[in-house]
Amino acid sequence: MTVRLVVAVDGPAAAGKGTLARALAEALGLPYLDTGLLYRAVGRRMLDAGLAASEDAGPIAQALVPADLERTDLRTPEVDRAASLVASQPAVRSALLDFQRGFGARHGAVLDGRDIGTVIFPDAPVKLFITASTRARAERRWRQIGGDVALSENVRIAAIEAVEAELQARDEADSAREVAPLRPATDAVEIDTDQLDAQAVLQEALRIVHERTAEHARTAAIS
Ligand code: CDP
Ligand code: CDP
Repeated sequence: MTVRLVVAVDGPAAAGKGTLARALAEALGLPYLDTGLLYRAVGRRMLDAGLAASEDAGPIAQALVPADLERTDLRTPEVDRAASLVASQPAVRSALLDFQRGFGARHGAVLDGRDIGTVIFPDAPVKLFITASTRARAERRWRQIGGDVALSENVRIAAIEAVEAELQARDEADSAREVAPLRPATDAVEIDTDQLDAQAVLQEALRIVHERTAEHARTAAIS
């Protein structure tokens, strides 16, 4: 029997979901899908069309093509905001559902996002919820987007605080929306990464994957 393992990786912005999910997929020999890119691509196309991201983005979500995910301009601050706005629309989420489920169902996969463990794959045998304090996440995102560590301390802190405010606003909107809000699935294992580098997070995640899959195989054999 071929086992199509699905690993759900969820959590707030810049927690290290993508870094972990990519490394896990490689370690487990599974395909990887960054589902945030789907919402980013829809937000990008809304901006390109001169539409506010609060307007109906359903038709654009339905018309998304793979090339939209390859664009290099999906990680700007304005796309961060637009992605979160379109992601609160039920029509957008349902337009993107089949693609995500199909991707995971074919060969198994590691998917990262906000609702993988709660909505997209509620039966996934392994669900990880990656967290870190807002300050740690803001520092990481600031470095990731090219923050200059040589800046004077005051300027650096002000820049990090600006990133932190944006992350916080997006997390609050993602958690408060009615459809597929950001929250851990009841059976998710939370990893607080404040004190952990990417390698340590990967080791902990692999330990959980092996524990969960062994448990799953045992329960399946009994029932
Ligand atoms: O996917 P998500 O937005 O959750 O975060 P990411 O893009 O994987 O990680 C954000 C930044 O934090 C990247 O530059 C990672 O290299 C860094 N990171 C880190 O410093 N420590 C970790 N444990 C995980 C990620
Ligand atoms: O990398 P970062 O964590 O900053 O963001 P992302 O994962 O690329 O997601 C961008 C936005 O898309 C999020 O703020 C969410 O509003 C939305 N999103 C979602 O609603 N559901 C997902 N499965 C993935 C992303």
